[in-house]
Formats: sequence, C-alpha cells, structure tokens
Amino acid sequence: MNSQAKQEDLIPEEYLQISSNIVSTFGNRTPVTLCIYDEEFQRVAPLFPKDTRLTPKKLDRMNQECNGGNLFITKDEYSSLAGHISQNLGVLLTEHYLDEPAAAEIFYEGILEKVREFYANPVAETLEQLKTVLAIFSEYVWVDRNRWSHFFNSLQRKNDLCCHVVNTLFVGTAIYLKTVHKEGEKLELNSLGLALVLHDLGMTQIPATLMTKASPFLYKEKQRMQEHVDIAEKMMNRMDVKDQLVRDCILDHHERIDGSGYPRGRRGDALSIETRVCSVADAFCGMIAERWHKKGIHPILAAIILTESSKRYDKTLTAALVSFIISNNPEMQALIKDKEKMKQLRALALKQMN
Ligand SMILES: [Fe+2]
Ligand SMILES: [Fe+2]
Repeated sequence: MNSQAKQEDLIPEEYLQISSNIVSTFGNRTPVTLCIYDEEFQRVAPLFPKDTRLTPKKLDRMNQECNGGNLFITKDEYSSLAGHISQNLGVLLTEHYLDEPAAAEIFYEGILEKVREFYANPVAETLEQLKTVLAIFSEYVWVDRNRWSHFFNSLQRKNDLCCHVVNTLFVGTAIYLKTVHKEGEKLELNSLGLALVLHDLGMTQIPATLMTKASPFLYKEKQRMQEHVDIAEKMMNRMDVKDQLVRDCILDHHERIDGSGYPRGRRGDALSIETRVCSVADAFCGMIAERWHKKGIHPILAAIILTESSKRYDKTLTAALVSFIISNNPEMQALIKDKEKMKQLRALALKQMN
C-alpha cells in the first residue's frame, strides 16, 4: 500500500484535504483551522487555528504539509472556506479536491456577490468585475457535465432579485448545455451567462413598494412591473452594452412562442434559442421562489407545468429542465414517480397560483 492510499484510509470522513491551489488564496491569515494527520498519535490534529497570522515560518510549514498531501480542514468549516474561495473563483478551474456539489455552492456565493455589487451600482466598473467571474464560471462548466448537473441543489429559493438571477444563470446554463453541448466541444458561454444574470436588471428601477407588495398586482401595477424590460434596455444603452445576444435575452425573456408574451408579442422563430432558454429558466426560477404575495411551487412540479405549456415554452428545453432537476437528486426522482404526491402538490400549486 503506498503512503497516499494509506493516508486516505486513515483520515476520518469529516475531514477534507485541501490543495496548494486553495492555500494560495489565503493571504496573511488562515481563514479556517488547518489540520494535519499526526503519524505518531495516528489521528488528525490541529496545525494552526483559524485566523492564525501566517509568518514566513508558518507559511513554510503549511506549504510543506500541503505539498505532502497532509493538510486538512473539517467539513464543518467548509462554509467559511467556501466564502473565502468565492472571492478567488479562478482557483476552482484547477482544483481537484473539492467535489462538484461543493464547487457549485462556491460559485453560487461568488457570483451572487458580484451580481449584488452590479445590481446596486450598475456602472462599467462593476460590470467588468461581473464579467470576470462569469468568464471563470463559463470556463468551469463546459468541460464536464458532472460539473453543472449538480447546480440544481445549490439554488436559493428566497425572495431576492439577485438570488433569482443567479438561479436563472445556473438553470439556464444547465438547460443550454443539456440541449446543445456535444462532448469534447468547447462552447462559448460568456454572452449567455451575462444575458442570464442581466435579464432582470430593469427591476432595480421598479419602486420598492411595488416589488414588496404582499398581495397580487392590480392591472396597472402589472403594467408598471412589465416596464422593467424597456428600462433594462435603456440601461444597456447607457452602459454601451452592444452584445446582441445579451440585448435579445433582456428584451425578449417575457416573450412566448405563441406570441402571448410582452412587451412586443414576438413569437416563434423570431425568438432565438438563447432567448428561449432564458425565458424557460426565468419562468422556472420565478415559480419556485418565495414571493411577497405567494409561496414558491415545488421545483419538479414547476418544471412539469412548464412542459405542459408547450405553446409558450420550447418543449425540448422544458424536457431538459426536468432531466436537469432529477439528475443527481434521488428525492426528486422518487417524487416524480409518486403519482399521488404529485397530485397533492399540483392541487397546492394551483391554489398558490390563483
Ligand atoms: Fe423579467
Ligand atoms: Fe426574471
């Protein structure tokens, strides 16, 4: 048995090995408690507690242990590390120890932070920072379908505009890759990613009293909400965003295949595949989230409802959405087969939608 294999057998499950990739993001202090496997006592023991200042001597020791494959953190501390790495998403491109579900959560946090900064202050500088994290995200996801099939479990269903657009990014990217990705082929995803996170930028200019209204919208209020599409277009003009794919998704994400959408009633082939992806992902993420005036719908049911609306939503894309939700999710796989439970969920959803 080689020493690496021996060590893996000896490390209790609650520990996670970390690489020099992650360690290189630490700066002057340890963001979590670092542990090593102590051969003499045959147990994992703390090396440096959280927030230890990394003097040159300590830095040497840490790197030495790390290079020998003997640096660990407890999984309990994982969320602190996730928050830390989310500031340095680039390391995930070459990181091998973190598994896909963990990386999906880190990406969620890192992108959410940049989206919040941009939505709060939509200027060229924050847009560039957002584009940088999206480029890292695009680079990460196209390589291997295992990477993005875990995105579903990291979605956040709270009533929050920025969470909604990051959800839309994750869901839309997964649908797009599931339908157009060919193994080994590199896809250019930067524009699509930007379109998915910018699609509701106009909502930032809708009065808060309307956004937080606790009862269903009146006709005039609905019209006011719908203005977010044209507002976003003006904001794109002001920031000189010329990418046609981004502009199309922003303008058309509420359009529907049968022409029943808004603001222009565009239909059929006039709507690009990216726009259709954006509208399916957006509708789904809107349905599953808690809102001020309604509860979120169960995700698998929301996806099925969309598959039943084939006049309005592209059925290849809605089918891809269902398979994205159930992949890597035994609970959803069981639920979709449970006819009685699905019936109950549907009755509940109908009540919520009315
Ligand atoms: Fe919208
Ligand atoms: Fe939206």
